[in-house]
Amino acid sequence: MRLDRYLAQSGERTRSEAARLLRSGAVRVNGEPVRDGGFHLKPDDRVELMGQAVEEKRYQYLMLHKPAGLLTAARDSRAPTVMQLLPESCARRKVLPVGRLDKDTTGLLLFTNDGELAHRLLSPKRHVWKTYEATVTGRLTAADEEAFARGITLSDFTALPARMEILSAGEDESRARVQVREGKFHQIKRMFGALGHEVTALSRLTFGALRLPAELPPGQYRELTEEELSALREEAGLTESERNEDA
Ligand code: URA
Repeated sequence: MRLDRYLAQSGERTRSEAARLLRSGAVRVNGEPVRDGGFHLKPDDRVELMGQAVEEKRYQYLMLHKPAGLLTAARDSRAPTVMQLLPESCARRKVLPVGRLDKDTTGLLLFTNDGELAHRLLSPKRHVWKTYEATVTGRLTAADEEAFARGITLSDFTALPARMEILSAGEDESRARVQVREGKFHQIKRMFGALGHEVTALSRLTFGALRLPAELPPGQYRELTEEELSALREEAGLTESERNEDA
């Protein structure tokens, strides 16, 4: 791999930032200063930036606390997307959302360029649990909870049995925690809609083994911890030998 590409991929920097670092003489390969971005690295070459070893990170795993108002899309010509909250290098490296949240939905959104993991987490066969908190119009009742548990029939499919727990119930507005194993378009809104309740606010709290940390404010992201990543991989049924270990 070219040295400038390696430097760009290993950190959150563009090729031109990498070129600037190279020109400044801050980069050494096997102890020797190298200023040429076109320098070809061999597998065992040791790259240092200002005396610190640089490791290539091929796969990235990020969680974002999505705020309302952004589209979940890699790009859109008319509307702002979640990508604008992540470093510019993410789009270039195809670190993309795993699944989607509606524009007005907030909460936990996973991003990765590990296609195998993303594919498995989204696979309808795998039924990864997701938890949401919803505010809805009208009074939720035990009959609504039972309807979720049975599986609500929509115009084009019957949802798998889900869990709905009422957090508060008022005449005009109620709040509930919902757990579903599917991720169909507008699924939560449609399930409540079928029972006569309009969702006025929706936030995702968990995605499989991942939980939105209380200390991650809307609009902020962070890398997954090792523990979070191994729990997700386990959930995705990735055996040791199948895992992309060079994260
Ligand atoms: N269900 C919905 O209706 N919307 C979302 O954004 C996620 C789940």
